[in-house]
Amino acid sequence: MTSNGFKLEARSTGDGSFSLFSPEFGEAFHSSRGALTEAREKFVEPAGLERFPPGSSLRVLDVCLGTGCNTAALLEACGSQQLTLQWWGLELDQEPLAQALASPAFCAQWQPGTVACLQELCSGEGMLWGDARERVQPLVEQLKGQFDLVLMDAFSPSRCPQLWSVEFLGALGALLRPEGKLLTYCSAAAIRQALRLAGLELAAIEAPCGLQQHKQDWSGGTAASPSPVAPGPRLRPLTVMEEEHLLTNAAEPYRDPGFSLDRKTILQRRQQAQARAMQEGKVEGTSAWRRRWGLTGNHQ
Ligand SMILES: C[S@@+](CC[C@H](N)C(=O)[O-])C[C@H]1O[C@@H](n2cnc3c(N)ncnc32)[C@H](O)[C@@H]1O
Repeated sequence: MTSNGFKLEARSTGDGSFSLFSPEFGEAFHSSRGALTEAREKFVEPAGLERFPPGSSLRVLDVCLGTGCNTAALLEACGSQQLTLQWWGLELDQEPLAQALASPAFCAQWQPGTVACLQELCSGEGMLWGDARERVQPLVEQLKGQFDLVLMDAFSPSRCPQLWSVEFLGALGALLRPEGKLLTYCSAAAIRQALRLAGLELAAIEAPCGLQQHKQDWSGGTAASPSPVAPGPRLRPLTVMEEEHLLTNAAEPYRDPGFSLDRKTILQRRQQAQARAMQEGKVEGTSAWRRRWGLTGNHQ
């Protein structure tokens, strides 16, 4: 049971790796293509580990640890490049990790030693259990500007807007070193806009292989950094279409001043701000932008 009394459901994903579904948030922990594939394509490869000389120690924050899949995938990639981690994790609930560690399927998907290393990290001082909004603030006070990587893997903005607000993303951005990178699976205009408002430079994570030909799946996520993000493994500049997306009403960000608002209030206030901006003629409607670019469906 989760801390709110919900039962997480174990799922196998497209690549055979272990995942969970949360009835509380009404959302899966990973894309159906595969938890491990997603960890590699959206977090590990865009991290550009080859930038760091062997022997380096990377400061990393895993936001919404869940099952620990992103950290475990990163541990394995760092091990093969002789990099070590100084690690912090944020997570509300201990149940996803407990279920993963109790699952033979989850444990079997890793190299020998990875699960023990994950367990050690998650029982250490870097594991900050609780609402990420509360736990991030002391971290910013202590370690501002010192992180190489922030892996941002909250539930989607409509399900968990508390963790996609200008204020929360601003706090994550403040943790980054000048060349540090925040990586997320999310390509939504509101999130990219919030990262820009935090003073970060943006790049797109390429859409997973096989999806690039579908126009509506234009991107696999977003990388953000205090410095311009060099094109690299899985990273490319935003296209004109994506830049124009940030001028539509979909780019109205989520706001949570004081880190205290609930989901419903954040969503309602955003809707009101969007309606005002449209009435005042300040932004283009997102449907007009979609038509202009020949997009169908409602993927991002
Ligand atoms: C999409 S899942 C994370 C998936 C995870 N990275 C993995 O690989 O399993 C989102 C996670 O956010 C956590 N969460 C939800 N609200 C939170 C909050 N306010 N603070 C911290 N964690 C939260 C959930 O418990 C869940 O584990």
